[in-house]
Amino acid sequence: MVLTVAVLISGTGSNLRALLDATDDPGFPARVIVIGADREAEGLAHAEAFGIPSFVVPWERFDSREAWGAELDAQLKVWNPDLIVLSGLMRLLPHDVVATWSPNIINTHPAYLPEFPGAHGVRDALAAGVTETGASVIVVDDGVDSGPILAQERVPVLEGDTESSLHERIKPVERRLLIDVVRRIAEGELDLGARPSPN
Ligand code: GRF
Repeated sequence: MVLTVAVLISGTGSNLRALLDATDDPGFPARVIVIGADREAEGLAHAEAFGIPSFVVPWERFDSREAWGAELDAQLKVWNPDLIVLSGLMRLLPHDVVATWSPNIINTHPAYLPEFPGAHGVRDALAAGVTETGASVIVVDDGVDSGPILAQERVPVLEGDTESSLHERIKPVERRLLIDVVRRIAEGELDLGARPSPN
């Protein structure tokens, strides 16, 4: 049985693209069945390129996070995926959405959690002057990047790094970890029902 995956994005979707490339291999045990976004995200072009359906639930059209989340949830239920991947979705999901889908929602984060959670993980690591940061894949819970860690890896901070150069070095690591975690979930090697251990 193939694991069905919904991916939610806000941005360019380069991590999504890598997941689509991996899952396009007929031997890969998971398939992306739908891509959703909170805006007309650039990354939706990847859905079109791969012939995968997509939907947008525009954040600004709703009065509250809860109302936005209810519509997002309704869209997701149409597809009823086995797993939801947040890949650069720059919104916190409301409690009801997390409660419906958790623990089958995972998120990628460009830092070595619990270090530097939140929307500016790369900038915050640079500002702190650390010599290494990293990438993590976690289960989404009600907190900000606080769910169980499924995989993570260190990435060195180099002299002269800018937020953008560091982020571009972290992203390939995020992609590799994400693809590996999705594969492990699909193959039953990683059971999200039980609390997983890192690595
Ligand atoms: C990734 O680093 C993700 O973890 C983050 O935003 C980035 C998404 O990039 N929060 P892209 O849209 O996949 O290019």
